[in-house]
Amino acid sequence: MAEHTFLVGPADWWHQAVIYQIYPRSFADGNADGIGDLKGIISRVPYLKELGVDAVWMSPFYPSALADGGYDVDDYRDIDPRIGTLEEFDQLVETLHTAGIRLIADLVPNHSGSGHKWFQDALKAAPGSPERDRYIFRDGKGANGEIRPSELRSHFGPTAWTRITEPNGEPGQWYMHLFASEQPDWNWDNEEVKADFRKTVKFWCDRGVDGFRIDVAHALVKDLANGHLPERESFDMSVIKPNGTDDLFDRDAVHEIYASWREIFNQYNPPRMGVAEAWVAADRLPAYASEKGLGQAFAFDMLGAGWDPARVKELAGGAIKRSHDMGSHTTWVLSNHDIIRHATRFGLPNGTDIGKWYKANRFDPKVNVEQGLKRANAMTALLLALPGSTYLYQGEELGLQEVLDIPAELMQDPQFFRNPELGLSRDGCRVPLPWTREGSSFGFGSNGSHLPQPEWYSAVSVEAEDKDPSSTLNFYRKAVNLRKSLVTAQEIKWVKHLFNKNVLHFVRPNGWHCVTNFGTKPVALPKGQVLLSSLPLADGKLPADATAWIKR
Ligand code: NOJ
Ligand code: CA
Repeated sequence: MAEHTFLVGPADWWHQAVIYQIYPRSFADGNADGIGDLKGIISRVPYLKELGVDAVWMSPFYPSALADGGYDVDDYRDIDPRIGTLEEFDQLVETLHTAGIRLIADLVPNHSGSGHKWFQDALKAAPGSPERDRYIFRDGKGANGEIRPSELRSHFGPTAWTRITEPNGEPGQWYMHLFASEQPDWNWDNEEVKADFRKTVKFWCDRGVDGFRIDVAHALVKDLANGHLPERESFDMSVIKPNGTDDLFDRDAVHEIYASWREIFNQYNPPRMGVAEAWVAADRLPAYASEKGLGQAFAFDMLGAGWDPARVKELAGGAIKRSHDMGSHTTWVLSNHDIIRHATRFGLPNGTDIGKWYKANRFDPKVNVEQGLKRANAMTALLLALPGSTYLYQGEELGLQEVLDIPAELMQDPQFFRNPELGLSRDGCRVPLPWTREGSSFGFGSNGSHLPQPEWYSAVSVEAEDKDPSSTLNFYRKAVNLRKSLVTAQEIKWVKHLFNKNVLHFVRPNGWHCVTNFGTKPVALPKGQVLLSSLPLADGKLPADATAWIKR
């Protein structure tokens, strides 16, 4: 293994950090094959440093058949050759650490890819064998086992069961997959599975990874005892029985797994951290975010907040109180690789059902791009001023809109093809980034891009925005860097704006005020030094759809 430059620093670096999500295949292509890679990321570390982020979270970079954008992992302890090599990974860690940036890897423990050696071994082995026991294989019902074992649906298609052909050529057992059929679920009652994941966690910790984002962290442990199999006619991860009684999600025993990883995390200096992607009830999140477990859990509350001051206040207050009560640290998220970019969401009327709108035609109503961008930047500034960590998704710092016109034949997302009920593709937020105004793939690489980029990318490229003081990029740079000097104790106090319920105003203990104007007319700002404003002030007033930071 290559020499690493380890970044030793405060153990609490992640309590109030800005973390930038990279979708590796769409960030920067260093070897001209149209697919983003580690070389590309290494070459852009100076960009990340200038942006001022504390850490990078990289979506999966492991060998994968790409049935689900890399969330189908064929080997947890290697790099997809299309993305790079382990040596390049070491180099990336070193380059990031030298720039003072931490690295969070994406761990996918609910399922592997169907190309994983252990799944292939299971297919070759006999029913009831130790190889099959690492996954969830069951006999089918009916005279010849031709009926699937239960009515459980998957997230990406009608059924969570796929029948295999046995080594003797006969139709055989079925295996369970909550997502695509290329994503067989692990059996977390199996000791070998547990041990192998501990090995993986240690492997990446040793390579200098500072933390892990845990994919569908609430789904690992399932109730499969005494022949029980989950049944579910629709797949909605938010429909979960309370208090750990659901047979699929959020079962208490999942925390034993995270406690065992915590033991590993704590063997390092500083201890490694974890952040759970757990779609569970608010009162169940603390267990994931506990420092006995992963340490942090995404608060997805703001995704549905819309442009509504009362709702934003309620959700922010709730998440802060929750994290306070559990002795943890909240997180804020507006965009990631699974959802329509927030600059587009805010360009639609409040309350628009995005799924329906997308499926209908994506143009009725039309996205108000200008409004969307203003509100997106205002919300970002608001979230950056709240206690806790903020996760940014690549391209939002350019104010990127969702790409809405990718032809169906060029889409890659299994959700689009296999879940017609949802009909929502995640490809539009995964289109490779524009770095330059012109050229092949707008500087993403020198030889095209794996998803088509729109013409309007030129005007929102890094090159176009870099020197423009009024660009979204420079607004993000200013906000993220300024924030470092402002971060303070994790408290806020809401300030009532005397005449206007459309204004949200809070102050942090060090006199850092944040004011957002959700109304339609400019509003007066509190006295003090205006440090940042997402739109230019109008006669000293804060315009509609804007946020300002004031210090006094
Ligand atoms: C959540 C990931 O963010 C998403 O992209 C993926 O499809 C599912 N988990 C399954 O791994
Ligand atoms: Ca490449």
